[in-house]
Amino acid sequence: MCGIIAHVGDGNAIGPLIEGLENLEYRGYDSAGVAVQNGSGVKVHKCSGQVSELKEELRATPKGNVGIGHTRWSTHGPPTDENAHPHTDTAGDVAVVHNGIIENYERLRRDLEAKGHEFTSDTDTEVIPHLIDHHLGSSTSPEAAFRRAVSDLDGTYAIAALVDGEEAVYATRQGSPLVLGLEDEKWYLASDVPAFLEHTNEVVYLEDEDVVVLEPHEVTITDLDGRQVERAADTVDWDPEETSKGKYDHYMLKEIHNQPTSLSNTIEGRVQDGEVALEEFPDGTFADVRNVQFVACGTSYHAALCGEQLLKEAGVPAQVVRASEYVSTSGPVSEETLVIAVTQSGETADTLGAVRAANAAGATTIAVTNVVGSTAARETDRALYLRAGPEIGVAATKTFSSQSVALALLTQRIAADIPVGTVPESTESLLNTAERLPDDIETVLETSDSDRIAAKYGGSDSYFFIGRDLGYPVALEGALKFKEITYEHAEGFAAGELKHGPLALVTPRTPIFAVFTGEDDEKTLTNAKEARTRGAPIVAVAPEGHPAVQAADAHLEIPDTHPTWASLLANVQLQLVSYHAASHLDRPIDKPRNLAKSVTVE
Ligand code: M6R
Repeated sequence: MCGIIAHVGDGNAIGPLIEGLENLEYRGYDSAGVAVQNGSGVKVHKCSGQVSELKEELRATPKGNVGIGHTRWSTHGPPTDENAHPHTDTAGDVAVVHNGIIENYERLRRDLEAKGHEFTSDTDTEVIPHLIDHHLGSSTSPEAAFRRAVSDLDGTYAIAALVDGEEAVYATRQGSPLVLGLEDEKWYLASDVPAFLEHTNEVVYLEDEDVVVLEPHEVTITDLDGRQVERAADTVDWDPEETSKGKYDHYMLKEIHNQPTSLSNTIEGRVQDGEVALEEFPDGTFADVRNVQFVACGTSYHAALCGEQLLKEAGVPAQVVRASEYVSTSGPVSEETLVIAVTQSGETADTLGAVRAANAAGATTIAVTNVVGSTAARETDRALYLRAGPEIGVAATKTFSSQSVALALLTQRIAADIPVGTVPESTESLLNTAERLPDDIETVLETSDSDRIAAKYGGSDSYFFIGRDLGYPVALEGALKFKEITYEHAEGFAAGELKHGPLALVTPRTPIFAVFTGEDDEKTLTNAKEARTRGAPIVAVAPEGHPAVQAADAHLEIPDTHPTWASLLANVQLQLVSYHAASHLDRPIDKPRNLAKSVTVE
């Protein structure tokens, strides 16, 4: 959470900093701020609220070709002006932006206060500019003072700092992402590539303990001891157009509609002649694996449940563990365990914690992620990329469908390698219908009745989602999406579980969205009827002509296809229902309250 940016160029840094912060707002939007160095001191401008409010503050635009910026998701202290970054030392000569958590900040603050430093915020971050200032007096250069301050810190951080009188940005990372963007003699540093993608797609993914100094004509990367390190530049193949809303009112709607394209990209070249062809995982890759664990959070956890289900169907022992619980509940992990981290951003702290525990236990680890060069991709043995393009809306949509498809292909590959695995009979039809999926999604997008249905059931007390088999993770995901962006109460259940307790909640004011995928549908229909008998309106998400359509009060149609893909088509309908319900309630759909897209704290 939190987004940081820095820029050094030959023009005013404020423009690129503000653009960058707007593109990073998905990481947090509690407050925003910038600082520039312009020959007459370090100038800081910051306020609580979104970047748009900061822009209002900047009407008399400050100038400076060297600058830093921040957009905040609050951890230490409420979202006030005082707690907004950049933070400064007592005299205002050093300014710092930070993403992460300084674990030893209370002790550092006590020590610094005893030495006369005056603090003005509740944040952990504020110790950093004071530490730099403290070391300036006894260091040979501001860079040396920066290094000494960094070596005092425990915790996770990506930091960028300005020091009065120095035409430079000093930056480093430890456990939080930091990417360098290179454009002729203009440099960018940011938490994520979309921050500067409009300017350059040439990037360097920095490693922990790299220290970067940006100056007008030079970038240097060294380790904490000052030794030069070589970091290769990569070219990111995302189109800057992908980070704009285009003709859509919200990123979420754009990303829902992008699914035919993003899924085509996920699948392209990975199914050949009715066989899975993953170049990252040649035949035999998984021959030594005996059991598989998935670790993930939120929406990615729901995609992982699909992966688990598919592996179990193939006879491979598999288990999904919530990443935040992995350290205490992983069960036995050995060198024969394959741990698959499912994470769109590749930066989720809980998921990274699970990966580190799995690595330490000797497991083989894989990241299924959308972000090339992300921490998850770098800390696992191999990565399978989603190729879904950047997802900006806080609510994950297109990446869920790409994760599910990538996992469907990966699990087929794993099952084919493992002696205990049996490739299920339906594999052929699964792979033969995979390439039809983007067109089927297009059909759902063109014909969906979701807007009308969202309006019809608006104002209900609660919204329930039920499904069985692969329809169950989709029910969970439908409910998560609904509550996340509408702020209405929603729950997902395994259809058969309703009668074991939740049925007590069912009334005529609790619509139930029932997902029918073609697996054991008659049982799900019975469960839906049990709820309808108690007065609940039923919305059947099912193909035309399905018996559930007759029995339900409303219908969201999905094309008839393989059950695995049917669950994804149902999910698109539920994404649209959530979107329209939130839109009718006038919610800030792309930036739901209290949330951030990339959750980099445990
Ligand atoms: O980046 P990740 O996939 O690791 O993120 C995990 C969750 O924080 C994320 O899926 C979250 O639940 C979604 N934004 C909800 O829409």
